[in-house]
Amino acid sequence: MSDQTKFNLTEADIPTAYYNIAADLPTPLPPPLHPGTGKPLGPDDLAPLFPMELIKQEVSAERYIEIPEPVRDIYKLYRPTPLIRARRLERMLDTPAHIYYKYEGASPAGSHKLNTAIAQAFYNKQERVRKLATETGAGQWGSALSMACNFFGMDCEVFMVKVSFNQKPYRRILMETFGATVHASPTDLTKSGRSILAEHPDSPGSLGIAISEAVEVAVTSGGACKYSLGSVLNHVLLHQTVIGQEALRQMDLAGEYPDVVIGCVGGGSNFAGLAFPFLRNTLVSPDGKDTRFIAVEPTATPSLTKGAYTYDFGDTVQMTPLVKMYTLGHTFVPAGIHAGGLRYHGMAPLISALYNQGYIEAVAVPQNPTFAAAIQFAQSEGIVPAPESAHAIRVAIDQALDAKVCGQQRVILFNLSGHGNLDLSAYEQYLGGKLEDYEYPAEEVARAMEHLPRVGEAAPA
Ligand SMILES: Cc1ncc(COP(=O)(O)O)c(C=O)c1O
Repeated sequence: MSDQTKFNLTEADIPTAYYNIAADLPTPLPPPLHPGTGKPLGPDDLAPLFPMELIKQEVSAERYIEIPEPVRDIYKLYRPTPLIRARRLERMLDTPAHIYYKYEGASPAGSHKLNTAIAQAFYNKQERVRKLATETGAGQWGSALSMACNFFGMDCEVFMVKVSFNQKPYRRILMETFGATVHASPTDLTKSGRSILAEHPDSPGSLGIAISEAVEVAVTSGGACKYSLGSVLNHVLLHQTVIGQEALRQMDLAGEYPDVVIGCVGGGSNFAGLAFPFLRNTLVSPDGKDTRFIAVEPTATPSLTKGAYTYDFGDTVQMTPLVKMYTLGHTFVPAGIHAGGLRYHGMAPLISALYNQGYIEAVAVPQNPTFAAAIQFAQSEGIVPAPESAHAIRVAIDQALDAKVCGQQRVILFNLSGHGNLDLSAYEQYLGGKLEDYEYPAEEVARAMEHLPRVGEAAPA
């Protein structure tokens, strides 16, 4: 094998279709339910929130969905993203493992989020929507959507979780640079925000609360504004599969196939984006590949490892449809960890179903060991990772060290979902020994679980 480090594709290799794993699921997903009636949702119920093309994608059983040419044109700004063999990290760890990472931080927004932001802005623009409202945690999703709206000449209103708004002022400035309006959520601009502030005036906010505010802005706009979500939903995961499709070809160029595929999970989109095209090989020919798929979450929001697989709301104020997912309860407000993009109470229904059926594994890691891994990665590979992505690095390093103990030449592939150049205050706190580890907040989760809607049966994990 050569000592090649980067495995690059050309613009002509940008995927022409998204891969829809729903077509290959062993059993269909449980349907989303109406928040008021508890009955399965129809397309009209979702129409105030999303354009019809995205609603169709949400329920589609087509295996491949063509990527529109204007979307591929913008992808050319940064796709295909590089696949890099982390040779210097391998040497630092003195491991026989081969470690590869797909670098989504190469996008101009700094993360994978732009892959779906461009697609969502395009489909909304096509249906004459003038503005998109959204939530953002650490600001990666908000900056991606602001950039995409700017490309398509649309307005963008972002509800940014208050703790992140204060921790990461530069992300707000980035969003404003692309013309977006940004609020620290909870705000007093919406009924949802005011109801939270009345009970918890010092609320640090959460993705669940910010979603309620953005959904409210969309549904009360009379159709001029729609809502856009950066993770969790089927169509968002679908758009991210450009990552894994490219990685499949790049691993081919490297002459290897991964034994382990790793990604961090907030709502699950970057993990799904990398993993699903590889997982297809397992689903379609179960005796062919025995790759392990590991989703990594923070101990502060362990929805997969400690949540229940049941119907729940996607937001705090119960405005979104009910979906069957691993959840810590929609009223759960996670601790203010720096990986703001992972502070979400639920997990994508597609990942939840595949985890429940044993196709995917999950691990929860605390903040300090995660930053220790991020520093090792930065010092060997030269990229400062986003705190979210560092969760995947932690487990990739653990896998490489385990391979050393076992004397195995394990092939490890992980998604480096974003860079952390605007997260340096988190690094400053870590380097100054000021970061707290938050263990599983059992009591708060138990309290939140009491508010689960009474639909179907909750099965504690
Ligand atoms: C860099 C980065 N990675 C990962 C995530 C988590 O989201 P998801 O699980 O949808 O990939 C976020 C969310 O904001 C992010 O900014």
